[in-house]
Amino acid sequence: MAPVDRGSDSSSKPPLTKVPRHVAIIMDGNGRWAAARGLPRATGHRAGTENLREVLRAAVEFGVPVLTVYAFSTENWERPKHEVNALLTILEQVIENELDELDASGVQIRHLGRTEGLAPRLVRKIQSATERTAHNSTLCLNVAFNYGGRAEIVDAIRRIIGDGLPPEAIDESTISRYLATHDLPDPDLIIRTGGDMRVSNFLLWQGAYAEFYSTPTFWPDFSRDEFYAALQAFQQRKRRFGRVESQS
Ligand code: IPE
Ligand code: IPE
Ligand code: MG
Repeated sequence: MAPVDRGSDSSSKPPLTKVPRHVAIIMDGNGRWAAARGLPRATGHRAGTENLREVLRAAVEFGVPVLTVYAFSTENWERPKHEVNALLTILEQVIENELDELDASGVQIRHLGRTEGLAPRLVRKIQSATERTAHNSTLCLNVAFNYGGRAEIVDAIRRIIGDGLPPEAIDESTISRYLATHDLPDPDLIIRTGGDMRVSNFLLWQGAYAEFYSTPTFWPDFSRDEFYAALQAFQQRKRRFGRVESQS
């Protein structure tokens, strides 16, 4: 990821007045993008990975401090073995090929999800990427891989019980503290590409009051300009958090 030019090139847009502190993206539609071109699904996943680079640059440009991307769900293991293998290989290659540039651009990489089920070599790569970039602060990038919102809550409950917390000590903030996102703000905006309008087990706890934005664009085609449009839509939303508008 090359350094971002915040200057006024021809593609610049009016500055956003209200930028989410945390944007989460369900990067969906890679398979349909490939099918529309008569290409194998794995080619769609590779194209999706290429696109992530552009979206990361845009996140920095637009001043989004935390970005979470859903790359592989706990349910995606049910796909045909060759597709699962392709997705695992792509993650490994992305870490190998992009880490230097991500690190140089100040991206802090984190992993959300279980490491069980992943090959030890991949786990080591994930760990070394997260350790190496831990002190970066330009953008916090959470990669949700082998991630499920329900699994995350189950794991949190197991650790709460393992730590011996008495029932009366457990409140909502306790649960939040035991999630992988414990030190991050909840997502303000969840974007789903590929046109579906469901959360597919993504950030179930943290997304309680996230604004939802769905676009029919397949993930490999989701551009900087569409990202900007999503952020513009966000700043027009009226968030009430259960109250009435005059209180908000
Ligand atoms: C999203 O694209 C990537 C993953 C779920 C791993 P899909 O592979 O789900 O693409 P579609 O939804 O079948 O088009
Ligand atoms: C959600 O997409 C998971 C990721 C984008 C990684 P899916 O394609 O797996 O979701 P469903 O099956 O359509 O709900
Ligand atoms: Mg899909």
